[in-house]
Amino acid sequence: MPKEDIQAKIVVIGDSGSGKSSIISRYKNGTFNTEADSTIGASFYLHTTEINSRILKLSIWDTAGQERYDSISALYSRNSQVVILVTDATRDDKVESLMKWYNKIVKQLLNDEVLVFVAVNKIDLATVLYEFADVKKFADSIGAPMFLTSAKDDLNVTELFLSIANSIV
Ligand code: GTP
Ligand code: MG
Repeated sequence: MPKEDIQAKIVVIGDSGSGKSSIISRYKNGTFNTEADSTIGASFYLHTTEINSRILKLSIWDTAGQERYDSISALYSRNSQVVILVTDATRDDKVESLMKWYNKIVKQLLNDEVLVFVAVNKIDLATVLYEFADVKKFADSIGAPMFLTSAKDDLNVTELFLSIANSIV
């Protein structure tokens, strides 16, 4: 008998401009837009994939990083099994930015089982001058795997979602 489909809710969180929508668009459509519009409210995508011979139905919630949408982001994050925290690789305050969203959203979920992933995005713009040891330390401290991604150059986006899928199935 075929096994039942698995459903999971993923929410993508982080500062405005970090590339949340771009990561999703790269994963879902294989496209990248240099002039992507800032998300208003939130967007929702359904993505079906197969892993380990199981059908996995992911509902992906793309939140808006602008502060005025904080309450909407918090609302849409409820009942999620997976949180992707996104930060911009070129910013100096990556850890502060991740910590802010972690405290604002993840800690409020009241779900100890939630899986958190950290995406340091726009890695295509980061030169050797950039240092990620502090981000890795923070990710380790919250038990989150860290991925250095580029939605633009298609780096580690598939790997990120594959790792998420593997941790669900
Ligand atoms: P909000 O919806 O406002 O919260 O922002 P967001 O996190 O969804 O960011 P968005 O995906 O809209 O990307 C912001 C800008 O960064 C856009 O101009 C993108 O083209 C650009 N961008 C996103 N990802 C990358 C990347 O990996 N590399 C480069 N070079 N630019 C990127
Ligand atoms: Mg967006």
